[in-house]
Amino acid sequence: MRITMKDGTKKEIMTVWREADVVKMIDQRPLPFELKFVDLNTTEEIWHSIKDMYTRGAGAIGVTAGFGMAQVALQNADLPPDQLIAKLEEAKKYLDTARPTAVNLMHATKRTLEKGKDAQQRGDDSDGIVKAVVEEADEIFEEDQRAATKMAEYGGKLIQDGWSVLTHCNAGALAFSGLWGTATGPVRWAHQQGKNVFVFCDETRPRCQGARLTAWEMAQEGIDYAIIVDNANSHFIQRGKVDIVFVGSDRIAANGDVCNKIGTLGVALACKHYNVPFYVVAPRMTIDYEMENGMAIEIEERDQEEVTCMWGLDYEKEEKVKMRIAEINANAKNIAFDVTPAELVSGIITEFGILEPSKEGLAKIKDLPPV
Ligand code: MRU
Repeated sequence: MRITMKDGTKKEIMTVWREADVVKMIDQRPLPFELKFVDLNTTEEIWHSIKDMYTRGAGAIGVTAGFGMAQVALQNADLPPDQLIAKLEEAKKYLDTARPTAVNLMHATKRTLEKGKDAQQRGDDSDGIVKAVVEEADEIFEEDQRAATKMAEYGGKLIQDGWSVLTHCNAGALAFSGLWGTATGPVRWAHQQGKNVFVFCDETRPRCQGARLTAWEMAQEGIDYAIIVDNANSHFIQRGKVDIVFVGSDRIAANGDVCNKIGTLGVALACKHYNVPFYVVAPRMTIDYEMENGMAIEIEERDQEEVTCMWGLDYEKEEKVKMRIAEINANAKNIAFDVTPAELVSGIITEFGILEPSKEGLAKIKDLPPV
């Protein structure tokens, strides 16, 4: 993503990247108050970075998991091929448990493991297996960025000068590895074309990815925005203040049902009622062709404390504070995602173009070579 430095200059930074067997990333937890980077040296650290949301967003999770597999390969290069493959299989099983909903995670571990196994079957030695796994992890990273660039343009062309866009959660550059993100890609593209765009950033309780991350990304790029509480989005949609909605996705079922951050379904329902276009921006890597419909997608349930507490910055003391907003023993349900039925979606913007949200629409790109 592009950030503005204290002296006003712009700098491009990656959300996650790899240097040999060390995975490096922005630790998104203290944002927007502190821009901090972390080094991950072990598979356990990679697992925690996904589970505890140092990194988050389907694309970034997938890239991190792929790099995690590359790390395992590089750190076990002196083992004989069968033991190296066993290590990779073990790592895949473990990493896949970090978060259940974003399919990019499982796709990345599967793709890297399969490349390793193909190399073994070809008779490659351990060095050859390591090379195959690392190359595939790097390809996932690069594919992610190429896809985001394409999606930004396809979606950006839908935005007219002076339009207001609404987005939910953070499907921005922080949720990917490169500069565009998914749902914010079209906004960035339109802004770069000189169009006036305004962005409503849904706050996105309980972790407030919209307020903390999307708003910060917009500010960094000088794009006009306002944070709104989640309860306000249907109001702005009803009053004609929203021209178009772009959201990302964590998993799209083969029939076009879209799983995304909790609250997305409500936005889609309001859009249908008030006739506002509702687009999903996601690369092919997010489509789960084995999942017949969205109702079968496993929905992550997170710690109740994310709902019963809030955290922020005490401006006077300049320190991070966590506060209870409910009684100490209060019960909460913390459902992280919901499923928007395909019939509420205007189109799915992928790196191959805008698809009809249906089995036939998604099938068209299933076997195309990567962009
Ligand atoms: O729980 P998170 O922050 O990982 O959820 C992120 C989202 O729901 C995004 O909208 C989604 O991953 C698409 S962005 C690649």
